[in-house]
Amino acid sequence: MHANICDYLLDAVQNSIEAGAASVKVDLQETEDMLEVTVHDNGCGMSPEALEAAKDPFTTSPGKHDHRKVGLGIPFMLQHAETTGGMCDITSVPQEGTTIRCTFPLDHVDTPPVGDVVSTWVSALNYPGPHEMEICRSLSTGEAHGCYRIVRSELSEAAGGLEDAGALALVHAYIASLEASLTQHNEEKRS
Ligand SMILES: Nc1ncnc2c1ncn2[C@@H]1O[C@H](COP(=O)(O)OP(=O)(O)OP(=O)(O)O)[C@@H](O)[C@H]1O
Ligand SMILES: [Mg+2]
Repeated sequence: MHANICDYLLDAVQNSIEAGAASVKVDLQETEDMLEVTVHDNGCGMSPEALEAAKDPFTTSPGKHDHRKVGLGIPFMLQHAETTGGMCDITSVPQEGTTIRCTFPLDHVDTPPVGDVVSTWVSALNYPGPHEMEICRSLSTGEAHGCYRIVRSELSEAAGGLEDAGALALVHAYIASLEASLTQHNEEKRS
């Protein structure tokens, strides 16, 4: 069971990579009362029948899990978004790709916490493979307004790869500074 929204996001990113996407675009927009998550890929896509099956927890791709026959990412994300008054929309075209977009009202008592955004980006970027990934993150509340963008290939070049512990520590520190800058701008303006 997923404990927070970042877990769902990470699962959707993993689905995209497992679908053979060469490019994955992740967008996380946060306002005072709403969180919107979009994951777009150009992977293998799904037929309308496969998309319906993906919404069913008792479905997973053959061979994806050694000992289990259920796939939990999409059904839980859908159910959690909808039961908290948000929505989840999935569009998919075979051989073209998939877009999953969900909204979560932040003021609903059953909305899960957002989770650790910085560690989520590090984990998403760390999935092995030659794919490109673009992450866009924005925060717009009464207190803070800002956004940043991360491009996997650029970050990998700057950090000297995304595999070893040293490079990942560097990436984590860099992303933490981006995330902190979203709220710092406004603190500086106020002081
Ligand atoms: N972006 C995508 N592109 C193509 N197929 C997808 C995509 N996302 C999901 N699917 C299909 O939907 C199925 C269900 O996805 P879901 O995330 O719910 O479960 P899973 O990935 O199989 O297992 P789990 O998430 O529990 O590890 C996947 O097995 C895959 O066949
Ligand atoms: Mg999954």
